[in-house]
Amino acid sequence: MKAKSKLVYGFRISIGLLVLILVLLNGCVHDPFIDPTTLNEGEPNTPGCVTDGNVCFESSVLPIFISSCARSKCHDATSHKEGYTLNNYNNIVRKGISPGNASKSKLYKVLFESGEDRMPPDAPLTQAQKDSIAAWINQGAKNTVNCNCACNPDQFTFALTVKPIINNQCVGCHKPGSLGGNINLADYTSIKAQVTNGKLVGSITHATGFSPMPQGTKLSECEINQIKSWINAGALNN
Ligand code: HEC
Repeated sequence: MKAKSKLVYGFRISIGLLVLILVLLNGCVHDPFIDPTTLNEGEPNTPGCVTDGNVCFESSVLPIFISSCARSKCHDATSHKEGYTLNNYNNIVRKGISPGNASKSKLYKVLFESGEDRMPPDAPLTQAQKDSIAAWINQGAKNTVNCNCACNPDQFTFALTVKPIINNQCVGCHKPGSLGGNINLADYTSIKAQVTNGKLVGSITHATGFSPMPQGTKLSECEINQIKSWINAGALNN
């Protein structure tokens, strides 16, 4: 009798430990699936200017995901490698993000892995891009839209305005080694060529006869106007 109860007791402890280990492992491996509206107070998005230090998802974070992750053969809707489609807000927050905690978010951690596990595999994101993603997650991973109110249409030099827009929104798909449509936008001379042939403006204004760029989204009116003003002023390397 005594021996039997010891056996049962031991068996229960082992089962208990096994369940505990499984629960812990599971918690580590999988980020929870998220309903995007829970992050935006029941709404699909959170519109309006962001205040100091807050990151605008639509103009700062989404472009990074689109141009660096949602490329063909990677995390676009067709390929969705490893089950990740990173082409819009709902798909991005669905899996791999722990709102409020960047360091626990798979989609952030992979930016720092080594070898083939580092994302994107061809070239690491810049520190500024990593910082934007971290801040956005730590601020609750909200779908902030129409929030790029700091954009000033009267500022349009190449170095301070045009290049940063193109770096953030286009270069991931238009650089040597990843030349979408065989078009390079990685340096001034190459960009200037697309100005001269009319394709840059045609694509960003989504004009008929051109492929709308960036893929799956549009620059803000203010950014489009900045680029047009820069072109009208001679498209200088200024
Ligand atoms: C997710 C990848 C991706 C992003 C981001 C992207 N492009 Fe493209 N782009 C492509 C691909 C692929 C093509 C070729 C196929 C096509 O025309 O759709 C292309 C084509 C183009 C063309 C040729 C259009 C035409 O009608 O001949 C231009 C110009 C261009 N892109 C500019 C841009 C600019 C400017 C941005 C940023 C504002 C941008 N692209 C962002 C992938 C991308």
